Formats: sequence, C-alpha cells, structure tokens
Amino acid sequence: MAKTKTVFFCTECGSETMRWQGQCPACKEWNTLVEAPASAPARAKKGGGAVASAARTGGGAAPQRLREVQGTESQRWTTGLDEFDFVLGGGIVPGSVVLVGGEPGIGKSTILLQVAARLEAEGRSTLYVSGEESALQVKLRADRLEGAAGEVSILPETELETILLRTAESNPNVLLVDSIQTVYTPELEGAPGNVGQVRECAARLQRFAKQTGTAVFLVGHVTKGGGIAGPKTLEHIVDTVLYFEGAGGLDNRVLRATKNRFGGVDEIGVFRMTAAGLVPVANPSELFLGERAQGTSGSAVVATMEGTRPLLVEIQALAAKASYGAPQRVSTGFDPKRLALLLAVLEKRAGLSFGQLDVFLNVVGGIRLAETAGDAAVAVALASSVYDRSVPTDAVFIGEVGLGGEVRPVGQMERRLAEAARMGFRVAYLSPRARPAKLPAGLRVVEVEDVRTLTDLVFR
Ligand code: TYD
Ligand code: MG
Repeated sequence: MAKTKTVFFCTECGSETMRWQGQCPACKEWNTLVEAPASAPARAKKGGGAVASAARTGGGAAPQRLREVQGTESQRWTTGLDEFDFVLGGGIVPGSVVLVGGEPGIGKSTILLQVAARLEAEGRSTLYVSGEESALQVKLRADRLEGAAGEVSILPETELETILLRTAESNPNVLLVDSIQTVYTPELEGAPGNVGQVRECAARLQRFAKQTGTAVFLVGHVTKGGGIAGPKTLEHIVDTVLYFEGAGGLDNRVLRATKNRFGGVDEIGVFRMTAAGLVPVANPSELFLGERAQGTSGSAVVATMEGTRPLLVEIQALAAKASYGAPQRVSTGFDPKRLALLLAVLEKRAGLSFGQLDVFLNVVGGIRLAETAGDAAVAVALASSVYDRSVPTDAVFIGEVGLGGEVRPVGQMERRLAEAARMGFRVAYLSPRARPAKLPAGLRVVEVEDVRTLTDLVFR
C-alpha cells in the first residue's frame, strides 16, 4: 500500500490545500496551515472509485421522487428549555448535527447536560459521551443542576469506533459528544484535536446521524491559535452552529445561531449562569438595561434586532480631553470604522468637534451591535458626552446615519417600537419615513431628518 497521503488544513477555516503556504488561500490567515493525513474516504477512492464499487455491490441510495420522501418538518423534539429550543428554530431536528462552540468554562457542558436531562424527562433517550470528564465528575455536576439528570446515560470514551458502536447498541434519540476535540479514530494518524482527526470524526458522526436519525450535539472549544482545530473547521460539516458567549463578564450567557439549516441565523437565546445551572432569561431587554445609570451623560438606548427578536441595548460614550499625542478612538461591541465615520459626520454636519478628544464607545452587556440601526443612538451618546448633558431616560433612538448627516429608516420598525413601549420607553426618535402606520400605546415619535435636528431636539 502506498504511503499515507497528507494534505494541509487551515486551523481557522478548515479549508484544504495540497501544499504548505504561509497564508491560508481561503481565509487569508497567516501560519494556520497544518499537515494532516487526507481523510479516509479520499483514500478509499483510490481503490477503483466510489462509483465503481457501488456499481459492483449494488449498494448505496437509489433515486426517489421528492413526494415519496417520508417525514415532515414538524417532527422536532423540544427540550422545554425555551431559549434553547428557540435558537434551534423550534426544537431538535432528528438526524441533525449541531455544533455548540464556545470558550472553555463558558457553560457548554452544563447546557448540554441540562438539555439531556430535559430530553429524558420528555421521554427521549440520550447518550452523553464525555471525553473530558469522568462519569463521576459529570454526575457531581448533574447533582447540582435543577431537574434530575439521573436517567441520562453516560459514556466516558474518546475512540470514535467505540462511540459509534455503543451508540448503535443503545440507539438513543440524541447523542451528545463532549468534546469533538477529544475524539479520535486510530484509522488516521495524528493526535486527537488535530484538524484531520476532528474533521474526520465529525464527518463520520454526521453520516451516522443521517443514517440512523439520531440527533447529534458536538461540543467544540474555541481556541485562539495553537494546535487544536477550532469549531470553524467544522462549520460546513454540521447542520447547525451555535456559539455560546459570555456577555459583559457577568453571569449572562448568549447562545447564538450562526448557521442553521433548520431555522433562522442570528437568533439569540439569553441565559444566566446560576448555582443550579443555566436559567433562560425570558426578558433579555430587561437584563441588558438593568444596570443603566440614571441621569449621567453619554448614554443612549437603541432598539436593535437580534435575528427576529428586538432587543433594547444601551450605548455608552465617553469623550474626554486627550492628554497627549493623537486622540484615541476605542470601541467595544461597535465597528471602529463606523465609529470613525459617525465622528466625522457629527463634526461636519452637527458642529461637534472631536479633534482634541479621546473617544470611548461601549455597547453594554457584551452585545455586538452589527446593524446600522444603532447609528442614531451612538451619535446621541457621543453628543451627550461632549455637551455633558444627559439623555432623557425614556427616549430610544432608531436609525442609520448617512454621510450627509441624514437619519435613515431601518427595517422591522414595528417590532422595535413594540419592544421599546413594552420596556416603558415613551418617545422614539426616527426618520420621518420610518414612522409606522400604527404606534404602540404610550409611545410617541419624534421625527428627525438629520443628526443636527436630532441633537438639537434632544439637548435643546
Ligand atoms: P462548563 O459547562 O464546564 O463549561 P465548558 O463545558 O464550556 O467548558 O461550565 C463551567 C463553569 O460554569 C464553571 O466555572 C462553573 C460554572 N457553573 C456554575 O456556575 N453553575 C453550575 O451549576 C455549573 C454546573 C457550572
Ligand atoms: Mg466542558
């Protein structure tokens, strides 16, 4: 037999190249290519090709009319952990593979153990494969969680073949693998956690899921640099990718769908880590606004959209006299280039001067403001800090700011306003073109054409 063929994988994006390069040709990251054996199916092809072998044995799937395909979309298994079900798009889809990524210690094992316990309570069988902790460690954790996890089957194992064998024997509805980076197959060279191993094991588990209808959850640690393959290398193999993130260094945790074949992307679920595990937060806006200081300058609120859900988020700005050298611009949770743009627009169109000021911008609660709907609130927070005048606490600002200083409408206005009204806000500053036909009770709209009118009206 010929020498095992090796290829190069990028530890960041997982793309494959035939030869080593300093920079990954796909994602342009530097020094991320590592050598690994080519995956097993690729090697198998050499012996005559898959087509030829399938033709010989008569095996494999046969074509079928779509209308003959069995099964409906409505078959989902809910966990009763509402925020988790919601992020998945309404529960677990049988035969799907879900990757749960996040930094070590963020709560991936905790939430999957809770999910397993809930599923057992709903009459679904589960198998929790632990490659990182012993059965006793998992049990001790389970004992602290709300809800009994006693029915969950645990298997401390890291070899893929054994995992597949035991899973096939007990035939659970849901298999949970914690973590994919500890699983390895002896068919491939290389230590567990290297890109080739992680990809091959994930691909085999994916095939297993599709064949048996078992839903599979994979835990994937996010690591910065280093030799372990991050979840990014798996994103295109799995059906759904959920990232678990901390929010603001507190006990808040945000679960975000970044890929979902069975639901919307960018949906978030919010949890709080407690002594009894993760508790869903039914009212995230309340959580993110909870710490808001009253009557201080430099704070404004926006109703942003996270997936299909509106969320009220506070933006804080601090503009302070620069002590030396070039003034600093630091932003957390907001695109620094967009901040630079808004500073220039405020300077040119609203007569504010930032030339001698350090500017710090922070989106509270660890939320990343990705949409432009936050521009107006950022502008108001900046102006508030420069004038050292506070913004009325019952005002919310929704709109994109253009280069001409004009305030532009953004989508989903009705949902945003409904959430603002629900959270007790009384006045919303918007573009005249953004005003919806019907306003929620208790909320009035102030129409603003441009940033100058906006700052004039708020701080007059
Ligand atoms: P864990 O689920 O082990 O994280 P991961 O699997 O992502 O590495 O969570 C670890 C942290 O969560 C640890 O610091 C302890 C804390 N924790 C609680 O606060 N309450 C709990 O009920 C549990 C189980 C963990
Ligand atoms: Mg863990």
